Amino acid sequence: MTLVTQKEKTKKKELGFATRAIHSGQSPDPTTGAVSPPIYQTTTYAQQAVGVHKGYTYSRTGNPSVSALEENLSELEKGVGCACFSSGMAAITAVFSLLSQGDHAIISEVVYGGTPRLCNNILSRFGINFTYADTSSETEVKKAIRENTKLIFVETPANPTLKLTDIRALSGIKGSAKLVVDNTFSSPALQLPIELGADIVVHSTTKFIEGHNTTIGGAVISKNKKDHEDIKFIQNATGSILSPFNAWLTLRGLKTLELRMKKHSENAQLVAEYLEDHPKVSKVLYPGLSSFPQASLAKRQNLTKNGFGGILAFELKGGVKAGLRFASSLSLITLAENLGAVETMVTHPATMTHAAMSKEAREKAGITDGLIRVSVGLEDPKDIIEDLDQGIKKTSS
Ligand SMILES: Cc1ncc(COP(=O)(O)O)c(C=O)c1O
Repeated sequence: MTLVTQKEKTKKKELGFATRAIHSGQSPDPTTGAVSPPIYQTTTYAQQAVGVHKGYTYSRTGNPSVSALEENLSELEKGVGCACFSSGMAAITAVFSLLSQGDHAIISEVVYGGTPRLCNNILSRFGINFTYADTSSETEVKKAIRENTKLIFVETPANPTLKLTDIRALSGIKGSAKLVVDNTFSSPALQLPIELGADIVVHSTTKFIEGHNTTIGGAVISKNKKDHEDIKFIQNATGSILSPFNAWLTLRGLKTLELRMKKHSENAQLVAEYLEDHPKVSKVLYPGLSSFPQASLAKRQNLTKNGFGGILAFELKGGVKAGLRFASSLSLITLAENLGAVETMVTHPATMTHAAMSKEAREKAGITDGLIRVSVGLEDPKDIIEDLDQGIKKTSS
């Protein structure tokens, strides 16, 4: 276990983001000096006597490779602690497991489709009630709050329309409910929800955090100790833990997070501007465009000034037919479910990531059948635009 004294921790917190991303939770291995910390591929740990051990007993409860990632993410998100999970959905399940029968939760009406699938099909069977609200509107959130509202779950920017929720404003009206922010689209390199007033941050680390399309993982970072302890209890009790190897790969990805997010944002801005000027494109949604409906909130919420992220959505003239034809005409860009990796990927949310939502719920949330989501990667932007261009041309041939 890396023993970090409180004094050292305070010193580390003063370091810049990129420095923390590279060093937090990771010091050279004390036995060999290995700069890259070893992968602790072990189930259990020898005890010197009954109950006498070095802080680890069994790898569902704790593993040094996973602890290193948890310490790193906690410092990047400015929380008191982090718990890592086997997927983003496992992390979200852990957060909702803080609730009890009879509790009520409010969820952004635009979220990754897996979140309502979990809530509507599984958690509702345990007597937890949900309201889907337009969390970009304080009035709508106030209307949805009930006496038994214990949790407000927002995704901002939301998947796939990029709709924003004002985290600071919601933290002012949430009352005793916990404000949970899914920060997957931005990562802490762009947005710091805890600084803006959130109680808990969740991540699908599968996306920008790991960033290389090689792992599935999730994380929950808490602002206060009690929530962190409760989440750690749930992590151990339910067992949906991250493997040491995936933790190690995720830590490696994190080392370049700030650099990648700046470049993802730079490339996405160029792609968004290209699409906005294209005569065959009817709509482009990207928080860095001045035409974005919530452009000023995007600027306000973006405390790190590292850019507006790598995700954008657009609609082609010609609707669904044109969209589907475009998606299968790309050559460099991959048609895939994931986002947030170095490779540029496109998705058709209505039939892929958000197929679990009803058509009615999708339309209410602005997820039209013709919407295409692009996760802009780190390739040369000229090549990305060229491939998009030839794909768009094919829609009318
Ligand atoms: C915003 C968001 N949150 C959570 C998830 C779920 O993460 P995972 O696929 O790692 O379970 C996703 C997956 O696409 C997502 O986009």
